[in-house]
This record gives sequence, C-alpha cells and structure tokens, in this order.
Amino acid sequence: MKRATCIILLIVAFAVCFPARAQENKLVIHADQGKTTISRNLYGHFSEHLGRCIYEGIWVGEDSSIPNTRGIRNDVVSALKKIKVPNLRWPGGCFADEYHWKDGIGPREKRPKIINTHWGGVVENNHFGTHEFMDFCEMIGAEPVVCGNVGSGTVQEMMEWVEYMTSVADSPMANLRRQNGREKPWKLRYFAVGNENWGCGGNMRPEYYADVYRRYNTFIKNYPGNRIFRVACGPSDGDVNWTEVLMSNAARHMDGLSLHHYSLPTGSWNGSKGSATKFEEKEWFAIVKHAQVMDGLIGKHLAVMDKHDEKKKVGLVVDEWGAWYDVEPGTNPGFLYQQATLRDALLAGSTLNVFNNHADRVKMANIAQIINVLQSVILTDKDKLLLTPTFHVFEMYTPHHDATLLPTELTCGDYEFSGGRTPGLSVSASKNSAGKINVTLCNLNPNTAAELTAEIGGAKVTKFSGRVLVADTMQAHNTFDHPEVVKPGAFSDVQLKTDGFTVKLPAKSVVALTLE
Ligand code: AHR
Repeated sequence: MKRATCIILLIVAFAVCFPARAQENKLVIHADQGKTTISRNLYGHFSEHLGRCIYEGIWVGEDSSIPNTRGIRNDVVSALKKIKVPNLRWPGGCFADEYHWKDGIGPREKRPKIINTHWGGVVENNHFGTHEFMDFCEMIGAEPVVCGNVGSGTVQEMMEWVEYMTSVADSPMANLRRQNGREKPWKLRYFAVGNENWGCGGNMRPEYYADVYRRYNTFIKNYPGNRIFRVACGPSDGDVNWTEVLMSNAARHMDGLSLHHYSLPTGSWNGSKGSATKFEEKEWFAIVKHAQVMDGLIGKHLAVMDKHDEKKKVGLVVDEWGAWYDVEPGTNPGFLYQQATLRDALLAGSTLNVFNNHADRVKMANIAQIINVLQSVILTDKDKLLLTPTFHVFEMYTPHHDATLLPTELTCGDYEFSGGRTPGLSVSASKNSAGKINVTLCNLNPNTAAELTAEIGGAKVTKFSGRVLVADTMQAHNTFDHPEVVKPGAFSDVQLKTDGFTVKLPAKSVVALTLE
C-alpha cells in the first residue's frame, strides 16, 4: 500500500472511531461582578403617526364605542402596563420632521388638517397632539421621548414647544398650555433634535447637521425643575463616518446619539422584503442572525464614540429597530402593517440580550412601532386586540429593567444554514435588588434543542422558576380568531447543580429563568 493511501485510511478510521463532537454549550455567569445598571429604557417603544399606530391603535376619540378614557383605548393601556413600557418616542420617525406642534393643541374641532406625506398621503386631523400623547404616557407609566422638527421646522418653533411642555413661568407658551387645560408643566426628560436628518429629515450631510444640531440644541432650555437629555440624530446602520463627524463636532452638546437599524429578510430595500408569516428556514435564518448584526454595528459605533468620549458621557440610543417585512396583503402599502411570528420573538429576545450586554453605553432603545406597524407588540382590528409574540418577550424580560448586568461568557455552537452561520444561542443575565438572578436565553436554531451547562461564580442557587416562549412552527403567530397560539408557558427543564445548572433549551425558543 502506498504511503499516501495509508495516511488517508488512517484519517478515515480516526474519523469513524472518534466522530467530530458538536461544540459544547457552556455559560459562565459572574454573579459577583456586576457593575452596570441595565437601564429600563432599553425596553422603550416608538409611536408614530403612521398607518393605524396612533389612530385606532391608541386614539379612538371620546365618542368611540371602543371603551376609552379621554379618547385613549382602555384595552391597549391595560395590556401595555404588563410590559412596563419605560418610555415612548413620538411623533416620529419621518413624520416628526414635518410635524408642527401648534397644529395639535387647542379644541380638537379647530385643529387644522394636514397631509401625512410620508405615510400613505392620508389626512391627519391632529386630534392626537401634545396633550393626548402626554396623557397616554401618564396612563401607561412611560416617560415621554419627544422628537422635534429640524427638517421643516424653525428653531423658534422647537424652542417654544419645549417652553410649552416644561415651563412653570408666567410666560407666553406656558400660559397657552394653561389655556388648553394643563396647569402644571409635564416632566420631559428626553428630547431628540430631529430624526434621520441624513434622509427623510432633510438629506443633510453630517458636517451640516452637526452645526444645525448645535444651533437648535442651544435653544432647548432647561426650565426650572426639568433637565433635558438631548439626543442627536445618529447614523443609519454602519455609517461610522456620520458617528465620527457628530462625535468630533458636537459630542459635548449631546447626551445621546441615536442609531437606526432594521432587519429585512432579503437584506435589501429594493423590491419585496418578504412576507411576515409565509417564509421558510432561509428567511428565518436571515432574520435571527440580526442580533449578531446589531452587536457588530454597536461595536463599530462604540469604537468611534470611545475615541472621542472615553468617559462614556454620551449614550447610544437605538431609537428605531425591529423587523421590516412586506405589508399584509390587501392593506395600504403606506401604512406598513405587518403580522408577527415566533421568528420576531427570537429576533426581539436575542437583540434585547445584545442591548443588555452593552448597557454601559446603550442607554435607550425603541422598537418600531408599538401598535399596528412594523415589529409591533399589539395589533388591533377595530375593537379587537391581540398580543404578538414580541409582546411576550418584552413581558418575560421585565425583570432586567434597572437590574445589575452580570457579565457572562458564552461558548456555543453555531446555527448554520446554507453556508451561513451565527451563534446558535444568545444570553444575558442580571441581578435585582433582592439578589435574584434573571437569565434570558434564546435558541435560534429552529431544528434542534440545545443543552447548556452554566456555572455561576459568586453565588449559590437553590431554587429556580422558568418560562418559555415556543411554538410548533417557525411561522406560528397569533390572530384575532386564535390570539393565544404563541404565549409563554411554564418551563422546568433545568437541573440545579452545586456550582450552577444545566438547561435544555427547546428548538426556536426564548427562555427566562429566575434563580435564587
Ligand atoms: O419606522 C418607519 C420609518 O423608518 C421611520 O419613520 C423612519 O425614521 C425610518 O426610516
């Protein structure tokens, strides 16, 4: 036998006797090394005058047969309380840079009608304005995040809006607010100076916007008792040049810099984006790998931010993120109404883990949009309401709000599909003020369960409780006729050990564990 043939035979024999083992999944949780608080603001939402988000989704008017309080849907308020919405961004989006706030105050029947040129060209009657938005925020317990109009509004208009909302003085705008029925100013912590000013907000170059930002920002005043956290328009996706220019020219004038990233199954804005509910594993893979994409984007922008701001004074604010598909067949293309499946739950769970793990710099995030648009947590059909799988993930992750991030080290096998790969598992962990450890885990692989061995350093755990979000198919979703197809259930596939635990994560699942 020739030497080469002999070597090949030996290799084959070795491979048969010792088949390659799948990568073991291991997790280390450093329970005694937490330093950073996971801001509850990472769990924020976004409400835009777009399609049926505001009108029907939130606002039905006082005369509606749909049960409401001062025009705001009661069923929506009580559902949103369950996910403890920490903050709500409004009025857009692209709509923000064509919104003139004075159109939305005073007696509703006298408010001017405008055309919503971005979203379907429909007539906007301005019945939902500043007072209604603030009322809604108070009802659901969320902090308002107001996005000002830089693209088509004046500095004076923006300055007066802030005075209207936050001044306690005997001043023209504060008095106008009083005249419209609100004596006390509102607390307004978060104010964004424009939206996507590189695109729908004015098509500006970063050098130009940096100067515009500095100018507008100068006139946003901190009135007595109110201090504003100022958010500058940041980059889209991987545009690090935008970040570089903004950070070099305006970092000292801002508290936050935004980032927008949407997940499209085709990866392209041209042509069909793919159906929200009718897809195969190819499109599942294309979406669930976006947590890794988000992690990479955050990493790139943070490298630039760190260069200019070592002390991490400026937070990254991911104020638009989520899945973006084709609209539901038969609906207005300008309304961006899409359904949501288990696939979106996995995207939400793994992306929220990424945000948690970057909590030292990521200070806020807002999924788009809260109701009836892109990756919404609630869908409505007139008087009916359903909770999407994404809603359930937000609810399962509430224990992370304002908890201390625990550093983790995860070694796991990849989820591979058709030559592509992404880490098969995703995790984040936190400890709350009572010392309980919360761990959220996602198994992105739709075909195989994953065994994970976790070691907990610095804490002994003797008790656990768990919940799981999983379904029979990747495409599983809730409908108005069958609203509970995807909902969390109890989970007990956990074995506690002296130094940690082992867990078996079902295929395509999000698992939340509490250990004490
Ligand atoms: O979320 C829909 C739109 O996407 C927003 O209005 C805009 O900011 C972004 O381009």
